[in-house]
Amino acid sequence: MMQRALFSRSVLLAQQAAAALDSPLVGKSASVMQRMDHRSMSSVTIPPPACMLRPLEVPMRYLFGPGPSNVPPRVLASGSRPIIGHLHPEMYEIMNDIKKGIQYAFQTENNMTIAMSGSGHAAMECAVFNVVEPGESVLVAVNGIWGERVAEIAERMGANVHTIVKAPGGYYTKEEIEQAIEKHKPVLFFLTHGESSAGLCHPVDGIGDICRKNNCLFLVDTVASLGAAPIFMDKQKIDILYTGSQKALNAPPGTAPISFNDRACYKMFNRKTKPISYLFDMTHLSNYWGCDGNTVRAYHHTGPVSGFFALRESLAILAEKGLEESWRKHKEVAAYLYKGLEDLGLKLFIPDRDLRLPSVTTIAIPEGYDWREMLGYIMKHHQMEMTGGLGPSIGMVMRIGLMGYNCEKTNADKALHALADALKNCKKSKA
Ligand SMILES: Cc1ncc(COP(=O)(O)O)c(C=O)c1O
Repeated sequence: MMQRALFSRSVLLAQQAAAALDSPLVGKSASVMQRMDHRSMSSVTIPPPACMLRPLEVPMRYLFGPGPSNVPPRVLASGSRPIIGHLHPEMYEIMNDIKKGIQYAFQTENNMTIAMSGSGHAAMECAVFNVVEPGESVLVAVNGIWGERVAEIAERMGANVHTIVKAPGGYYTKEEIEQAIEKHKPVLFFLTHGESSAGLCHPVDGIGDICRKNNCLFLVDTVASLGAAPIFMDKQKIDILYTGSQKALNAPPGTAPISFNDRACYKMFNRKTKPISYLFDMTHLSNYWGCDGNTVRAYHHTGPVSGFFALRESLAILAEKGLEESWRKHKEVAAYLYKGLEDLGLKLFIPDRDLRLPSVTTIAIPEGYDWREMLGYIMKHHQMEMTGGLGPSIGMVMRIGLMGYNCEKTNADKALHALADALKNCKKSKA
């Protein structure tokens, strides 16, 4: 038994040595065999996987889906700067810069403004975990996948969750929202500004007033819309706002700006129970980000240093360009794309142009076509990502994202060319 195990292990090692010799990384040197000999005497029972002896390969892709988006060279370069300690004074400076960059992007003066170490979901969970206690009422507008997600997050932490549900792409009147808030008396109302699964940009004006009148916090998701469509956190009386790094901001995925105003801070710092997450506890995060007035910042977790460099650079690009110019450009390129799509005979999923999300455009699946086949064709022949729907919009839409760095008419032309090619070459339904 033992001998058989040893034999198959030496066969495996010999195969690996052969694979390693073929590898352009390692080259055909005797040192590989020496290393393999050494390994055969080592105490490890799981050998190094052959894939780890090959160089990293990353294809070039046009990321014209709902995110992540292509990252500009300047942002990529910032992420490759040498690592410094996450508690070094220079890092605190960079974090302070990020805070200012977020305040500009969100149009807020909130002191409690940080970036989560994690993707958009981390910000989503941070918001809900910190301001809601188990048993409290939460109202969620569900008109695509993101409301579904927040409802589930709130449910998991023991909130009493109520939803107002619309089909993907549906939007709510202020009256509908007010009625539901009066009925369910939530401590928190959630709305997605840029519903990327449906391509909807939801109006926000006036909802903050309704929430204040009813002693409820207003939480808004701008992961897919920040930088692409106007949002004014303070003016629009939004109590908690978050976004992601990988959409119109054009940083790599993995950091997520979030801001809390005084109303939200009052609620989250006067709770009876501790938030269920240690990592996302704002008592600790506010200190780590220098927002709690304490001169000493204590260790809480090790932040993603390179991710923060890249986030800082992407916020710097937005500040240099200017928010208004960024919003204008997204609107202009989106309008150009709409025209091209209609010229191809395609139907836009959101009929009202004013409600379309400029960063992510949704088209109704053209009749008789298999959307998976079309998307596969576009990826194979054009190295271009576009996607289908998500959650409740699966099978209803195809999504094209042109955000930030990718938001150019030349890229819209590339996307239109790929779609035209797919329409020509993918089979219409055999039925
Ligand atoms: C509107 C919206 N909210 C939240 C998320 C979740 O963000 P992440 O995938 O970074 O966790 C996304 C991601 O696509 C999104 O589009």
